[in-house]
Amino acid sequence: MNDPQSAHWDTVYRTKSADSVSWYQPSPDASLAAIARTGVGSSAAVIDIGGGASLLVDRLLEEGFTDVSVLDTAAPALDIVRHRIGAAAAKVDFIVADITHWMPQRRYALWHDRAVFHFLTSDDDRAAYRRALDAWLAPGGFLILATFAADGPEKCSGLPVRRHDPAALATAVGQGFETIDTWRDDHLTPGGSIQPFTWGLFRKR
Ligand SMILES: C[S@@+](CC[C@H](N)C(=O)[O-])C[C@H]1O[C@@H](n2cnc3c(N)ncnc32)[C@H](O)[C@@H]1O
Repeated sequence: MNDPQSAHWDTVYRTKSADSVSWYQPSPDASLAAIARTGVGSSAAVIDIGGGASLLVDRLLEEGFTDVSVLDTAAPALDIVRHRIGAAAAKVDFIVADITHWMPQRRYALWHDRAVFHFLTSDDDRAAYRRALDAWLAPGGFLILATFAADGPEKCSGLPVRRHDPAALATAVGQGFETIDTWRDDHLTPGGSIQPFTWGLFRKR
């Protein structure tokens, strides 16, 4: 990702309330349902890529998950989460990083990405993302990926996005993954608009 985009996200989280941004959801139900379908246990290493200020981490901790990481390029987003969850923040690994340049040196059992991959509009950035998946998602691990659908908005947060139908999403993750399921889900923004997403649940071979 280029530096102006990184600065964009810092500004978003410094200047807007977390519940006013278009991607806000009061409860990350689609993500939780997808995670439940994987059947991973509560000790599984779970990472939310580009988690921003999402409430997913709150819910995972409530469900008893003990190895939860949240990665985002925007430090202010992670500060919002830290502040919100208080003492429970000590149980979470917060990682400020660009996913296209990330070297964690450990592997995860479940990789969740809602509305992040679609910002990678260049071949190089998507290739870098796939390299990270190859390196840091364990074999047999699960990938939950959600992007704007083919008929979804052309921009998110003012930035261009790459939209996917189910077949394009499966192609984007590559042959190293088995497609367990893909589905469509309409997100209702705080402003009252509908944003269609394509979701995919994949398993690394
Ligand atoms: C549309 S928001 C979605 C946030 C969260 N996943 C959710 O569903 O509420 C996109 C998030 O991805 C982060 N992001 C964008 N590009 C990124 C990158 N290359 N590496 C890491 N995070 C990135 C942004 O800072 C922002 O928090």
